[in-house]
Amino acid sequence: MNVLVTGGAGYIGSHTCVELLESGYGVVVVDNLCNSNPESLKRVQEITGKSLKFYEGDVRDESLLRKIFAENEIGCVIHFAGLKAVGESVAMPWEYYDNNLNSTLILTKVMKEVGMKNIIFSSSATVYTADNEMPLRENSRTGNCTNPYGWTKYMTEQILSGMAHADKEWGIVLLRYFNPIGAHISGRIGEDPRGIPNNLMPYITQVAVGRREKLSVFGNDYDTPDGTGVRDYIHVVDLAKGHVAAVKYVVNNSGCEVFNLGTGTGYSVLDMVNSFVSVNNVAVPYVITERRPGDIGTCYADPAKSAEKLGWKAEKTLDDMCRDSWNWQKNNPMGYGE
Ligand code: NAD
Ligand code: UD1
Repeated sequence: MNVLVTGGAGYIGSHTCVELLESGYGVVVVDNLCNSNPESLKRVQEITGKSLKFYEGDVRDESLLRKIFAENEIGCVIHFAGLKAVGESVAMPWEYYDNNLNSTLILTKVMKEVGMKNIIFSSSATVYTADNEMPLRENSRTGNCTNPYGWTKYMTEQILSGMAHADKEWGIVLLRYFNPIGAHISGRIGEDPRGIPNNLMPYITQVAVGRREKLSVFGNDYDTPDGTGVRDYIHVVDLAKGHVAAVKYVVNNSGCEVFNLGTGTGYSVLDMVNSFVSVNNVAVPYVITERRPGDIGTCYADPAKSAEKLGWKAEKTLDDMCRDSWNWQKNNPMGYGE
């Protein structure tokens, strides 16, 4: 079966292409490369020894999507394509709503036309409200998003679940990712953020490799064991395997189901720094600074539903995540841009 992967050249998409190819699926990628480099797809093919088909273009381009569905027998879509920087979404809300909502609307319009109604969507733990008890379950409260990026994930979940409610032919899986980090064990593909990283692990790796002077730890006065923020970090390869499990699920089940993809364990910012330093034997200088606006103290998943219904659970350890993040960064100090 062929899987259409939108945004397949990106960080999570490229790792998912590897796992799909290694599980015997054919892979067709559509990506406009607005936040990625086609080198990632070359390396996916090098890692797996298998080829994939790549269309460079925008998911909002209806005629391109019709062409892709006409030229390929697609059995399932994984929809990663979208813009993902929280701060940028506050500065450019229209671009975020346009890209993230219209990509899903146009993609599903064409899917309806061709009668192929299996889709997996990249949602985020950001859809959960800040006042939930931990761990977060799929039926924990959602909404009250604090930025346009979060709203696009929340709204897309509403759009897709409404469609599944109205038309029983849809098979829809909403995957709520926690904090993906790490890289493929080969060190050939990984996260390659443009500009100054917003997220913790790419910032740590860029400090370790000498591209940034020091890490700012955003607050040490949270109600957590060491006062720094606690998150559920998940290895991107485990996350990618969760998508393969979701493909198997969605082709056999109609309706709309939501799943957390997390490990169920929270680590603090200082846990991350200490583990990174000790596993890799490199220095990561840091200073404690003010809290970052919009951050919460603690966020981690209950991954039980994914284990029960998808038969998936995260297997890699924090040490694996730290080792593989560094292996990618030290072998590719400037990402794919070298
Ligand atoms: P990424 O930016 O590396 O990948 C997204 C890809 O989509 C890029 O290759 C980009 O060029 C492409 N793209 C964007 N808009 C497009 C469009 N209109 N048409 C075609 N291609 C387009 O991001 P990622 O980290 O791999 O994230 C993938 C998805 O998972 C996103 O939807 C993101 O919001 C979601 N997500 C990511 C995280 C995270 O921490 N990385 C957490 C939760 C959810
Ligand atoms: C952030 C986004 C969230 C998005 C997620 C994955 C915000 C407010 N939230 O979540 O919407 O779904 O990324 O892309 O941007 N930290 C530091 N120093 C840094 C960077 C981070 O101390 O330089 C801390 C943060 O305060 C937090 C933890 O590290 O406690 C993780 O931060 P980050 O990687 O940005 O992820 P989230 O805040 O969970």
